Amino acid sequence: MSTQPEPAKGARARKVTTRSLLQMKAAGQVITALTAYDFLMAQLIDQAGVDVILVGDSAGMVVQGFETTIPVTMEQMLYHSAVVARGVERALVVADMPFMSYQVNPDEALRNAGRMIKESSVEAVKLEGGEILCPTIRRIVDVGIPVMGHLGLTPQSIHKFGTYQVRATEPGEAEALRRDARALEQAGAFAIVIEKVPAELAREIAELVRVPVIGIGAGPGCDGQILVSHDMLGIYDKFHPRFVRRYAEIGREMRAAFERYAKDVRAGEFPSPDESY
Ligand code: KIV
Repeated sequence: MSTQPEPAKGARARKVTTRSLLQMKAAGQVITALTAYDFLMAQLIDQAGVDVILVGDSAGMVVQGFETTIPVTMEQMLYHSAVVARGVERALVVADMPFMSYQVNPDEALRNAGRMIKESSVEAVKLEGGEILCPTIRRIVDVGIPVMGHLGLTPQSIHKFGTYQVRATEPGEAEALRRDARALEQAGAFAIVIEKVPAELAREIAELVRVPVIGIGAGPGCDGQILVSHDMLGIYDKFHPRFVRRYAEIGREMRAAFERYAKDVRAGEFPSPDESY
């Protein structure tokens, strides 16, 4: 696989679109994606040249302190999505549809997807689930809203499965995953996130469908990779799944800075005369 060409120095990088992601897959260029929930983080990720920024409902865990993504509401996702979209110039911005905002029926899903696009200025929405969601995906795509699918470990169904263990290790489940991926593509999804499945199966699915397959804990054979930013930065410490590579230990640095500040204030060493008027 080739890597993406660097834009010329000083040149404005081209906006990433659903179409350019398809072209990247066809050209064998690996797609990069990360999550963001606020303006500054989105701006930094965009400046780093990451192709897709997902406003994940993982916000429920890494920003809001819930145990799962389930309590996250439409209003909260609209807020996170709007502040992220304001920080991004180049990346494609995708927003997660929160639990129960799209499961009841296709009309309600369409209304909520429309709110996400109109009120938050994101460019696409992501839904968790396979074949069963296809009528909903068709309804949303038909009015011009791009949909990203999400298969494998689907965190909004955590209470159904009762575990965050690797999915599709049994032949029957693996076959269902292949079927779901094909169905999502036929329903019009422009890309599919596949979470925590065996690497060989993910590679096979990436070869099976024309749309980009973006993996998280799904090995190197996917068309792209996504991680939760707070995990890869070492800010969120509650879980450390094997598939997360820690690129920094920002949480440790932040804690040390807060401790130094508190120590200086208590010792009367902050503010100094130079820091006073
Ligand atoms: O909510 C999220 O952050 C996600 C990623 C794990 C893909 O869906």
